[in-house]
Amino acid sequence: MSASPDDAQFMQEAIRLGLLHLGQTSTNPSVGCVVVRDGKIVGRGTTAVGGRPHAEPQALAEAGELARGATAYVTLEPCSHHGKTPPCADALIASGVSRVVISVTDPDERVSGRGIAMLRDAGITVETGLLEEEGRHSLAAYLTRQTKNRPYVILKLAVSQDGMIGRTGEGQIAITGPAARAEVQQLRAETDAILVGIGTAVADDPELTVRVPGLEGRSPVRVVLDPLLELPLTSKLVRTARQVPVIVVGREEVSEAWEQDLPPSVLPDISPTRGEIDSLRAPSQNVDVGTSGQAQPISPPVGEMPGRAEGGIPTADINAETTAQLESRRQALESAGVEVVYCHPYHPEQLLPALASRGISSLLVEGGAKTARLFLEAGYVDRILLYQGPGTIGQGGIETPIRKTDIPSDFKHVGTRRVGDDSLDEYEREV
Ligand SMILES: NC(=O)c1ccc[n+]([C@@H]2O[C@H](COP(=O)([O-])OP(=O)(O)OC[C@H]3O[C@@H](n4cnc5c(N)ncnc54)[C@H](OP(=O)(O)O)[C@@H]3O)[C@@H](O)[C@H]2O)c1
Repeated sequence: MSASPDDAQFMQEAIRLGLLHLGQTSTNPSVGCVVVRDGKIVGRGTTAVGGRPHAEPQALAEAGELARGATAYVTLEPCSHHGKTPPCADALIASGVSRVVISVTDPDERVSGRGIAMLRDAGITVETGLLEEEGRHSLAAYLTRQTKNRPYVILKLAVSQDGMIGRTGEGQIAITGPAARAEVQQLRAETDAILVGIGTAVADDPELTVRVPGLEGRSPVRVVLDPLLELPLTSKLVRTARQVPVIVVGREEVSEAWEQDLPPSVLPDISPTRGEIDSLRAPSQNVDVGTSGQAQPISPPVGEMPGRAEGGIPTADINAETTAQLESRRQALESAGVEVVYCHPYHPEQLLPALASRGISSLLVEGGAKTARLFLEAGYVDRILLYQGPGTIGQGGIETPIRKTDIPSDFKHVGTRRVGDDSLDEYEREV
């Protein structure tokens, strides 16, 4: 298409709007739309939190009668199917817009090309592909889930000057400063789920929530790869599981061992997403709200199970005794509000589609070393964020699984920038 500078500017605004609700629109993409009449924006819309209403009807509603004869700029091809909302293509036709400019066509086979055809059949001029690269970037999570049947995977690591991500036996070490940590909090808020290995969950006892003022309600679902269900009941993850969902991914063989007697919880094709999980919970299961009206810390459940330091069950054969122990761990975790699922934790080719089937479109992998390596080696990382701090770790350091010098060749170096006293190198693969 032959885009004018004005067209590009309005699409830029639509893309900016679409980015506002990243990570908050459930299984729907976060789309942006602007309606422009006589060179002025008369309506703006972003897919609402939860995924509905879509961006177009909101922008059209704001434009009202001014939509007649106007141009609508939309980051993704308008939907053409009757889902839980009527088709956006119908709304655009009914509004009387005369031109629709689209950045990215929808890979969803229920929609692909049909939204455009409906608009053209109604006599509307349709142009596609404006700022397509930026548009695809803004919709990367949705496009990845639609076309690859897995979430868009971002790997974030904080690396010291001497190439370490931590020190054995010391838990969390501050490698980067407050500015980088604030950025990571923002990134978490834009992501559907965050994942760590059991090594990190035990060594660091992280909470993995969003705690910056104003974004507290936007914590992603937290996922722990934990084949033998070793996550301590006293961990922050477990203690906060009723406020922000925690999924522990156990080993499939474990579930098979007790399958006869006790059917394990398995991954359903589609299960509730973050917002829906919260709303589905019975009030008694929700955050404990004291008389102050503030959320209170949940008391640690009785019957603490041993964490790693106290010696977990060896990964060897699963016999009757260990099966019983594992079953008791499962029950304890579930009683504390954790969801236990069995899905080959160290096989991302199986785990990622299972997460996608639950509506998780973006996944932030926050380590540790083995977990990062697992996803890198399997070729499932789409974006790498390497924060480099100014300090060194020295003896006892845990080596980073990836350095600037060994980024796979199919990644593009997006750039390097300062973040407080740290630097960030960002790499991306094409969506
Ligand atoms: N700077 C950062 O950005 C950052 C981020 C997160 C964590 N960390 C640091 O990283 C350290 C933890 O690293 P980690 O590598 O031990 O922990 P991890 O990746 O969180 O967990 C790995 C654990 O899973 C097990 N595992 C077995 N097979 C695996 C496989 N194929 N893929 C992945 N995991 C497998 C490992 O068991 P076996 O050991 O028995 O094989 C290991 O205990 C902590 O010190 C933490 O502070 C740093």
